Order: sequence, then C-alpha cells, then structure tokens
Amino acid sequence: MEKLIIEGGFPLHGEVRISGAKNAALPLMAATLLTSGRHTLRNVPDLRDTRTFVRLLENLGVKSERYDDVLILDSTHLNHTEAPYDLVKTMRASVLVLGPLLARFGKAKVSLPGGCAIGARPINFHIMGLERLGVICNLEGGYVDAHVDGPMQGNVIYFDIPSVTGTENLLMAAVLAEGTTVLKNAAREPEIGNLIDMLNTMGARIDGRDTDNLTVHGVKELNPAECTIIPDRIETGTYLIAIAATGGSGKVTGCNPAHLPALLEKLRCAGLLIDETADSISISWPARLREVPILSSVDIKTMPFPGYPTDLQAQYMALMTLGSDICVITETIFENRFMHVAELQRMGARIRVDGHSAVVSGRGMQGLAGAPVMATDLRASSSLVIAGLAASGRTDISRIYHLERGYENLVEKLSGLGARVWKEQE
Ligand code: EPZ
Repeated sequence: MEKLIIEGGFPLHGEVRISGAKNAALPLMAATLLTSGRHTLRNVPDLRDTRTFVRLLENLGVKSERYDDVLILDSTHLNHTEAPYDLVKTMRASVLVLGPLLARFGKAKVSLPGGCAIGARPINFHIMGLERLGVICNLEGGYVDAHVDGPMQGNVIYFDIPSVTGTENLLMAAVLAEGTTVLKNAAREPEIGNLIDMLNTMGARIDGRDTDNLTVHGVKELNPAECTIIPDRIETGTYLIAIAATGGSGKVTGCNPAHLPALLEKLRCAGLLIDETADSISISWPARLREVPILSSVDIKTMPFPGYPTDLQAQYMALMTLGSDICVITETIFENRFMHVAELQRMGARIRVDGHSAVVSGRGMQGLAGAPVMATDLRASSSLVIAGLAASGRTDISRIYHLERGYENLVEKLSGLGARVWKEQE
C-alpha cells in the first residue's frame, strides 16, 4: 500500500482548478440506467469511486467509453438487474441503481450497503419510499430483492430526515411512475439540482428544484442524456481550508461559490478575506495579519444544505486546531464522524469529544507537529492532509486509498500550490 508524505510548514499560494463533483457524478451515472441509448456525461472526475461505479454499471451490461473528463455510457443492452455485494460493499452509493432499475424493468436485486466508518448508514427511507410507490421489497440474505407488477404508482413520500441519496433514488424511481409523486422534506443539496436538470433534459417533469418539496409528474418514456457534472463543492472547501491553515493565499477556479454559503461565512468570521466571482473563490489574510496570521475560533454545527456540510466538518476541525481560542464543532448528521480526532491529537491538537460535539482548544497557527497518522475515511483523511500541511516537520499518512476515493490528482494539485507532498510505498 502507499502512504502520503507531507513536509509541512510552507504557506500555499497560487491557483487550483476544481474537478467535477463525486456526489453528483454517481447519481447521474445511475440515471443512465433509466432508458436505453448513449448518454454523455461531461466533467466526470476520475476517482476510485467513479471507476467503481462504472464497473458496477458494466456488470449490469452498460458499455462505457471515457475521453478525458467525458464519459459515454450506453445502457441499451442491460442483461440483468443485480448489484452484487462485492461491488456494493466498497461503495455505498451503489444503492442508487435500485430506483432506476425498478423504474425501467420493474425489478432489482441490490446488496444492502452495510455500514461504514462514519455510521450505520441505513437505507430505510429508500425502502419506505419505494414501498409507497407500490414496490415489494424483500430484505433477505443481505440483499434488497425488489419488484413491482406494472408501472409504479405516484404517491406522497415524507422523509423523516432529508436523505441525499434517498431523495435521488426516489426521484429516479418516480420519473416513470403513473401519476404524480411528491417528495416532502426532501434534501436540497446542489447535487440533487444537477440530477433534476439531467432528468428533465431526458424528458422527465420534475418541479421544485432547490426546495424541500419536489413534485414528479410521471412520463411514459425518457431520452438519453447529455449533461455536465457540477463542480465538487467539498473539494473546493477542502482547498480553501488548506490554504487558510497554512497561512497562505490563493484562488480556487472552476467552482461555484453559491454551493458553499455556510463555509464561506465561517471562514470570514474566522478572519479570512474571501472574494467570489461566478466560478472562482479567492482567499487571503488581511494585510495586518499577513506576517503573523491569527485565526479566530468559530463554532460550527453540521446541517443539511444550505447549512454547514458534514463532509467539510473534519477539514474545518483541522483548521480550528490552529485557532486562537476555543470552539465547539457539533456533528448532527452522522453518529461516528469524529474518527479524525485521535489522529489530530497525535499531531498535538487539543480536542475533547463529548457525544456529538468536539471542543477544540486552538493552539495558534504553529500549534501542530508532524507525525505518522492513519486515514480512516474519505473526509477524515483530507483533514489529516490539511493538518500535515500546517504542521512543522514531516507527516506520514497511511491508508490513502480513502483519499483517492474523492480527490482527483491530489498530489499534483497540492504541489501546484507549493506544497511539499509525495507518495511512497508503505
Ligand atoms: C450523501 O450520503 C453523501 N454521499 C455523503 O457524502 C454525505 O455525507 C451525506 O449525503 C450527507 O450530506 C453521496 O452523495 C454519495 P443521507 P447519504 O442519506 O445519502 C440517515 C462523502 O464523504 N439515513 O443524506 O448516504 C443517515 O444515517 C459522503 O462524499 C437514515 O436514517 O446520506 C444519516 O444520519 C460521506 N435512513 C442521515 O440520514 C436512510 O434511509 C443523512 O444521510 C437514509 C439516511
């Protein structure tokens, strides 16, 4: 296995271009199952997770071609409707094939995804919604074996929690149903807007984009899609936080500032200067703090969009270990998303976890020292990268396959900002 080596303490400066969003690419790739034909997806990031999803689709009979960031998926000849455990267990988002397979074929057998490092990750809302549309779901042998006789029937579905992939799965299930489906308390993340745009260009009729109340008027058939994946807002936030943590300045391009309202406000409250254009964000320190940056400690509480995103909680915690005071980070979305705390503590961070909250006592911008640490999940690993960039000395991060799930060309992009980072064999 490989590890990532970081020689920390060097401010990051320069420009970095953002890739397509992992969490938009996965549902949009699943949506190509809804109808036969050649679908064209643009700005598709080349990641471990998108490669795994292509393998899953090919396993169902989809033919794929990739030219740079353009992915062609031909779903004309699907030869079965089962997603096996060995593929689903490596990537939970595989459950997203359930809705489109049921919409097109009336049956699907998908392995239950199982939990992961950050939580149990149940899919009861997915199942509840499908059953509201008339689907029979049998849970046996670790699989969801689902079928529906004839087309699904539109209905009202209420989410106890605004589930992102739950909303995506049921949107894809409902587009070919008879009648109208209303998703109440639905998720509003930008990735869902990207999916709605794709489905509507395919001939679906979905109203309520960007709200928590989505109305799907069922249609008889759909056409193949041509669409572009939105920029990755979590990758955008990760680089902004990394630049701030190293006392540097820089510009993140090819991004959408409107997708990060909470993070940009928190960085401004922490003392950073943030300038936005339609497709870029510049971050810097005020002149009076450029020589000796002093970071204010600011609380966050993770919430569904447009609240502070849980996928940027670990990265923000790494930043706040460098703060000038104490702050509280509250994680309301997942039950076990503080795995990065123990690793940050190995680097000198002062953090105390109390249930769903972590109290971070900042030690100032020179507060961390490099150490060997271990990645536990995708976003925890990016938190360790940020800490390593800010720390004095060398940090070795093992199990970096977690990182490669969600960050395209990470070493090249960080090196382009002046970071001293490379990979070595364990
Ligand atoms: C999506 O996961 C993202 N993954 C996650 O990103 C992200 O952290 C999460 O949304 C929250 O924003 C993809 O889009 C592929 P949820 P998802 O359903 O859909 C509970 C990353 O790092 N819940 O919105 O699985 C659940 O346990 C990943 O890129 C149920 O109880 O998350 C959680 O507490 C990590 N029953 C809450 O709802 C259900 O049926 C929100 O989960 C579904 C969810």
